[in-house]
Amino acid sequence: MVNFDFKTYMDKFIDQKEMQTFLGRKEEVYEKFSKSTMNGWKDKVSDSLIDEILETRDLIKQNSSCLVVIGIGGSFLGSYALKEMFSKYFCDESFDVIYMGYSLSSKYMKEVIDYLRFKDFTVNVISKSGTTMETSLAYTAIKKLLKEKYSDDEICKRIIVTTDEYQGTLRDEVNNYGYKSFIIPNNIGGRYSLFTPAHLLPLSFFLDIRKLLDGFYQGLGLKKYAYYYACMRNSLFKKGKYIENYCVYEPNLYYYTEWLKQLFGETEGKNGKGIFPVATVHTRDLHSLGQFIQEGNPIIFETFIKVLDSEDFYINNQSLNNINNVVLDSVVEAHYLGGVPCSIITIDKICEESIGKLCAFFMMSAAFSGYLFDVEPFDQPGVEVYKKIVRENLSSK
Ligand code: PA5
Repeated sequence: MVNFDFKTYMDKFIDQKEMQTFLGRKEEVYEKFSKSTMNGWKDKVSDSLIDEILETRDLIKQNSSCLVVIGIGGSFLGSYALKEMFSKYFCDESFDVIYMGYSLSSKYMKEVIDYLRFKDFTVNVISKSGTTMETSLAYTAIKKLLKEKYSDDEICKRIIVTTDEYQGTLRDEVNNYGYKSFIIPNNIGGRYSLFTPAHLLPLSFFLDIRKLLDGFYQGLGLKKYAYYYACMRNSLFKKGKYIENYCVYEPNLYYYTEWLKQLFGETEGKNGKGIFPVATVHTRDLHSLGQFIQEGNPIIFETFIKVLDSEDFYINNQSLNNINNVVLDSVVEAHYLGGVPCSIITIDKICEESIGKLCAFFMMSAAFSGYLFDVEPFDQPGVEVYKKIVRENLSSK
């Protein structure tokens, strides 16, 4: 279940005339959205692909006690976010999924390599372009370790590549060495690739990917809410609300807000436009940033993600989950009184169906919002420029 309250703590801040203008652009935006050549992420994933992913997962479990996922940005955040959300805070799992390639920390690299030295592991390297520097460096380091530990035949069984169907260094490796591979379709951009093998394979270790996909397809039916939210955000922007703060009350949702930051930041942030996405984890950040949000520079609006039922715990016969949600409602009230526009998105619980729906809602909203800003939602020219300069500077050193 997903519910939206875009009115109670919001309406008085919205310029209704502005809002009507945005709402009036619906047909234009829907048409651009449906005609985009980059909207393949809405297509159904075939049953045979899901079967292949699950078979691959089972094979990995047979010869490994760890899956090493290598990727960054859109090839990392989605599966990491949902891994965090669906994992226990403390556990001694017999099977590990660890991530590499999302930083250049040599300390992290050294520790991962040392950790893996005495483990049997499989690598899933994920890069749509196949040329991203962080991913390539981590992959090179891990291949060296594979060579120290295993025969060529064994290495071939332990590398799984997820990349473009036809081009890039990684696809060339697949063609040369016969590695198992999955495709990131070229009508799907990095941050919209959550429901492709780039994320579904790692996620199959934590959750039921069929249920997640079912939730996502149902969530595509939330189009009118997604459009309303996009219009509301753009109206707030016109009134000087340049920052959106996503507020979560469960620490394991933190990385979901990181995924949201990429989704909205890369989709809208171009041509000098866009709302800057930030996030706070409550109640922790109420004791740090809460003061600023409530009474500081009034350029912020907030979107609260409320989870009705969490695994509960009672202290003095009081439900801790209930206390957490009472605090959420109170903070919304306080921030609203402080002049901060707030909306609340409620899910019943953290489960595949709700999260699939929520993702569909945000993915559509980000795209609609990009069109309302009159930018192309599915490209990221700035990221490409940064990558190019890094490549040139590194090759001249
Ligand atoms: O959204 C994007 O396109 C980027 O953030 C990419 O996902 C990120 O740079 C990683 O790119 P690649 O998958 O090509 O390695």
